[in-house]
Amino acid sequence: MTSGDLPLFLGQLLRNPREISAVVPSSRALATAMAAGLTPGHGPVAEFGPGTGRITRGIIARGIAPEDLTLYEMNAAFCGRLRQSFPGVHVVNRPAQQAARDFDGTLAAVVSGLPLLSMPEAVQNEIVSAAFRALRHDGRFIQFTYGPKPPLREDTRHALGLSATAGPLVWNNIPPARVYIYRRSAE
Ligand SMILES: C[S@@+](CC[C@H](N)C(=O)[O-])C[C@H]1O[C@@H](n2cnc3c(N)ncnc32)[C@H](O)[C@@H]1O
Repeated sequence: MTSGDLPLFLGQLLRNPREISAVVPSSRALATAMAAGLTPGHGPVAEFGPGTGRITRGIIARGIAPEDLTLYEMNAAFCGRLRQSFPGVHVVNRPAQQAARDFDGTLAAVVSGLPLLSMPEAVQNEIVSAAFRALRHDGRFIQFTYGPKPPLREDTRHALGLSATAGPLVWNNIPPARVYIYRRSAE
């Protein structure tokens, strides 16, 4: 994060506490863990809820080309900062629920920094359903969570026919977080 990003993040947190739902941006360690499974040249990637772009930096550091990356961020002030910080990356000031309008089964991965568990169940379902319509068949949905429970409700996971893989706890984050990868089940 650059020195100007924390004041922007905190200012937007005060104005939109429900949408932002985190006290500080993700750490570099969590950004690295979120991006670890991405392969450059393997297809387009979308990020949901990038905020000031901490996880975006991890995705770019992984070698994903800017033109292969699309960011869905509802907050217009964050979008302005993202456009400045990441030239060539597609920044979309629309909700993540609309990703399937732009990608019809073509994305290799969705990386989500959204506070899914603190959203109403119907909203969580809309977002994850949109992600899997936008993803190709072998695509993955990558999401972190702070608590002991997985970041998707079991009902949502079952309804969409997904399997989950949990990574190790990333201690160097406030609070510590765990990365989950969801894919369509094999059968
Ligand atoms: C917890 S912040 C995460 C910021 C960043 N990913 C990080 O980890 O530091 C959540 C972000 O998601 C955005 N957001 C919330 N609901 C959204 C939605 N439905 N579609 C797109 N962005 C959303 C908020 O504006 C906020 O920037």
